[in-house]
Amino acid sequence: MTTQKRVLITSALPYINGIKHLGNLAGSMLPADVYARFQRSRGRETLYICATDEHGTPAELAAIEENLPIAEYCTKWWAIQKELGEGFGLSFDYFGRSSSVQNRELTQHFARVLWERGHIEERTTRQVYSKADGRFLPDRYVIGTCPHCGYDRARGDQCENCTRVLDPADLIQPRSALSGSTDIELRDSKHLFLLQAKFSDELRKWIGERHEWSPLVSSIALKWLDEGLQDRGITRDLAWGVPVNAETWGPNPDGKRPDVEGLKGKVFYVWFDAPIEYIGSTKEWADSAPAGTNSRDWKSWWVGDDAQKNVRYVEFMGKDNVPFHTVGFPVTILGSGEKWKLVDQIKGFNWLNYYGGKFSTSQKRGVFMDAALEILPPDFWRWYLTANAPESADSSFTWQHFADTVNKDLADVLGNFINRTLKFTEGKFGAVVPEGGKPGPKETKLADELERRFGIYSVFLEEIQLRKAAQELRAIWVLGNEYLADAAPWTTIRTDKDAAAVSVRTAINLIRLFAILSAPVIPFASEAMAKALGLDIKTLHWPKGKIADEIAVLKPGHAFTIPPVLFAKIAPEQIAAWEERFGGAGP
Ligand code: 2FM
Ligand code: ZN
Repeated sequence: MTTQKRVLITSALPYINGIKHLGNLAGSMLPADVYARFQRSRGRETLYICATDEHGTPAELAAIEENLPIAEYCTKWWAIQKELGEGFGLSFDYFGRSSSVQNRELTQHFARVLWERGHIEERTTRQVYSKADGRFLPDRYVIGTCPHCGYDRARGDQCENCTRVLDPADLIQPRSALSGSTDIELRDSKHLFLLQAKFSDELRKWIGERHEWSPLVSSIALKWLDEGLQDRGITRDLAWGVPVNAETWGPNPDGKRPDVEGLKGKVFYVWFDAPIEYIGSTKEWADSAPAGTNSRDWKSWWVGDDAQKNVRYVEFMGKDNVPFHTVGFPVTILGSGEKWKLVDQIKGFNWLNYYGGKFSTSQKRGVFMDAALEILPPDFWRWYLTANAPESADSSFTWQHFADTVNKDLADVLGNFINRTLKFTEGKFGAVVPEGGKPGPKETKLADELERRFGIYSVFLEEIQLRKAAQELRAIWVLGNEYLADAAPWTTIRTDKDAAAVSVRTAINLIRLFAILSAPVIPFASEAMAKALGLDIKTLHWPKGKIADEIAVLKPGHAFTIPPVLFAKIAPEQIAAWEERFGGAGP
């Protein structure tokens, strides 16, 4: 559990190719954002870093399909992804690019140090070569039949049908993804391998000491170790990527120098440079500081004694990414022998499914970030995806479930409370917090219940238990409605105006409190709620003192306005239309 450490947060870097679907959002960027917003509200120094993952064959193939030079393709899609992130309110402190100079330099730095410390080795491997294309065909450049399940469109890195990880040379009847040519042979090619296997014991010890990791994360990590850690090829015969610059490397501990000639023209494998971009993007953030400021000290977050002691580093990702973050990246860090920060907490997620099947980028199945924003405000999605975060198991999106959730929680519970409180007050007292009366037992009971639930809610957020946190937040909103029903100002106003005044004064203060507590999850609605009360959400912070005081902050005479409808209910016709448009039941 944290005390007063600075909080460094990264979410898995989205691949550059194409718009991300709701499953990607739900399993990394959104929960990281909820956590970052919570930590900032608590007053902790927080840095939330993300970037596009721009290297590798999927990016190259997508650029070819769009008929754009790869660099141009990446620039275009980085801007689109950045804008969509902003549309969802993802509060990245920096959204970088793994193709940045910063990442190139850091990746080359790590590779050099790993070589010089004897943790990288050269091996001659047999690689698929296409004579028609005049080039090697790494990873997804080869398509063929899966040797395990017989699927005839398996890609060289992984079979989409049986999900087994493949080597391009394993494929039966291989053909080029570029030209379709089957004139293919295996040729020798020199490559670099990260010697992971010898880190097994060190990793096992490190993982064993990470008591706060969930069983999902620890079990995936340990499975890789139990199956026997393999050394990993970290270079590719590609033009796009971080170039291997072996000419700058010194000898390894055996006095051997790298085969500069044999490694010429190769780049690092995308999974080697992508996690390093967490650091790279932080440096991009520092380097882009406005002139005259020097407050962005990227090293203080990542390296040295201060970072080791005073930074808590939390990573967010889907379960498929866990091995790379519990084995690959840690080996890079540990092997460097330098004082880089290792992750403290990994929050891993299962899958969000679409009608029980997979969201799929390649098959365009499900709802994608652009379409989601086109049809509804971001908070609808943020609420649904947080309340149904695929934490302990996969969860399944259906339009009906989505509509039921947001209609009930946002419109009926929260929206309704705000609306009737402010409308009733305006009608009976004018658009100001009314004076008169004194809080009594009802208010004390409310404050006690709030105090208890607020404590639980804060703990769930701190522990990144998002479903439970959302449930608790909803229960806090419900307390508002229960209080109003119990206090019944619409009845007391007839006989005891002061009693009614106390009730609505308390209820208006609850809106302020709800704005603060809801902001990590539904920041746009929170901003509108605060604005209706003449407040700026940016100046409101997580309660530190007694909740009883929090519901008496706004004093008589404080003006408010009625906000526009915050959560319009989703109608059955809309559900039907979206099922039609996006494909409902069945793949
Ligand atoms: O699975 C993915 O979407 C990868 N692009 C995640 C990379 S995370 C990090 F290592 F960069
Ligand atoms: Zn297969």
